[in-house]
Amino acid sequence: MTAAPLLETRDLTIKFGGITAADKVSVRIDAGRNLAIIGPNGAGKTTFLNICTGWIKPSSGKVFFEGEDVTPLPPRKIVKRGVARAFQIPQLFTEHTALENLLISASAREGLRNPLRPMHRIAQRDEMMNLLEMVNCADAANRPVVELSEGQRKLIDIAVALALKPRLLLLDEPTSGVASSEKHKVMEILIAALAKAQVTSVFVEHDMGIVSRHADEVAVWNTGKVQLRGTPHEVLAHPDVIHDVIGEEIA
Ligand SMILES: Nc1ncnc2c1ncn2[C@@H]1O[C@H](COP(=O)(O)OP(=O)(O)O)[C@@H](O)[C@H]1O
Ligand SMILES: [Mg+2]
Repeated sequence: MTAAPLLETRDLTIKFGGITAADKVSVRIDAGRNLAIIGPNGAGKTTFLNICTGWIKPSSGKVFFEGEDVTPLPPRKIVKRGVARAFQIPQLFTEHTALENLLISASAREGLRNPLRPMHRIAQRDEMMNLLEMVNCADAANRPVVELSEGQRKLIDIAVALALKPRLLLLDEPTSGVASSEKHKVMEILIAALAKAQVTSVFVEHDMGIVSRHADEVAVWNTGKVQLRGTPHEVLAHPDVIHDVIGEEIA
């Protein structure tokens, strides 16, 4: 018997007014295969992530995580099962230090009431410092997040998500807002950290250089549907993708 996919969706459908943001979306994500999602604005990419994390409930269709139906679960229970999320704009407490942000996240995982109490800090400090090292941000541990570069903030946001010990991390445009000179470095660190933590990723990305370099597979979204799926090489050479997605990016 083959193992259940890490995440599988079957016929996810949702309409907002007259717009079908998900139109029978069926996707399979296997452990260890990083999937990039590309597609024009308004195609339904973020909606897909919102449904997988329980923030939006589909009007029909199901989400399975490790073979179990998680469709009806609230977001926090889906996180507990092992699905974490990082946002286009890092959701950090900017006046707190990087390390404090991780301690807060780890405490949310453990259900602690007062995450910054000295005892809890000591107990989890080493684990959180390891995570900061994994994303090359150990030197930023004791600096307030507000002082850091956008690239560092993105990486710390990833470390915050990893502190929840997920098996799958969903990333919405992880390199948006990062200077183009910093983008590839941020993505390299991110992908290496995920591999080390044995976390599979799904990332929405507009930069095709990043997609071809860092994705194992690519899915193309268009008008609420998965239009095409394959290796970066196959997908990025496809005439429809060049016309509908890459053409738009260049224009
Ligand atoms: N919560 C919502 N309420 C109403 N319309 C929404 C909502 N979320 C998304 N939409 C609409 O659904 C479509 C898909 O949006 P989205 O998933 O954000 O696309 P993408 O991330 O690919 O740019 C868009 O037309 C958007 O305006
Ligand atoms: Mg989006």
